[in-house]
Amino acid sequence: MLRDLVFRNRSYRRFYQDVPIDGETLRQLVDLGRLSASGANRQPLKYWLSCDPATNALVFPCLAWAGYLTDWPGPVEGERPSAYILVLCDTEIAPSAGVDHGIAAQSILLGATEKGLGGCIVGSIQRGPLQQALGIADRYDILYVLALGMPKELVEIEPLPDSGDIRYWRDAAGVHHVPKRALDDLIITV
Ligand SMILES: Cc1cc2nc3c(=O)[nH]c(=O)nc-3n(C[C@H](O)[C@H](O)[C@H](O)COP(=O)(O)O)c2cc1C
Repeated sequence: MLRDLVFRNRSYRRFYQDVPIDGETLRQLVDLGRLSASGANRQPLKYWLSCDPATNALVFPCLAWAGYLTDWPGPVEGERPSAYILVLCDTEIAPSAGVDHGIAAQSILLGATEKGLGGCIVGSIQRGPLQQALGIADRYDILYVLALGMPKELVEIEPLPDSGDIRYWRDAAGVHHVPKRALDDLIITV
């Protein structure tokens, strides 16, 4: 059921780093992005794949994790993603990808969830250093990094507190809590 898949598709930031994800799995996930909607069907998105420890080690330091968890610098060695999909815009096709990368990212992460994996869209990226570290040509703009792995944390959705605070938080047991607005608060009536 699609709702169940969307519900389970949470942002995970801690993983069993020793559980590998192979290149063929990443190709299958990129195929879901390929099949997704694209403004004017321009299809400017390209992808760069990483699933070996040496390349992963170049990607990781260029990412920022969970800005609201101010005392948590990100996953420790052993709990880091075992693969990454970089979502790029090929500027020789279009100067901007519009919202294509968001749509593709969701398709890819739903596919990962269906495979029993999990991940996180990372938009807070040191783009210049990452592009240089990986030797990605200038014509490609790095839009998102999709971090992927076998989740090693529990993530729970909960109602927004009365204060209206939308910040996610982590409890003493390490469970990550994500407040979501109520459905009735999203639907505007006259
Ligand atoms: C466009 C976009 C950019 C994001 N960038 C980051 C990021 O740089 N680092 C991070 O840890 N999480 C990032 N996230 C994950 C959000 O924090 C997460 O979606 C939000 O807390 C809600 O949790 P949920 O995905 O489990 O519903 C990003 C999500 C989106 C949609």
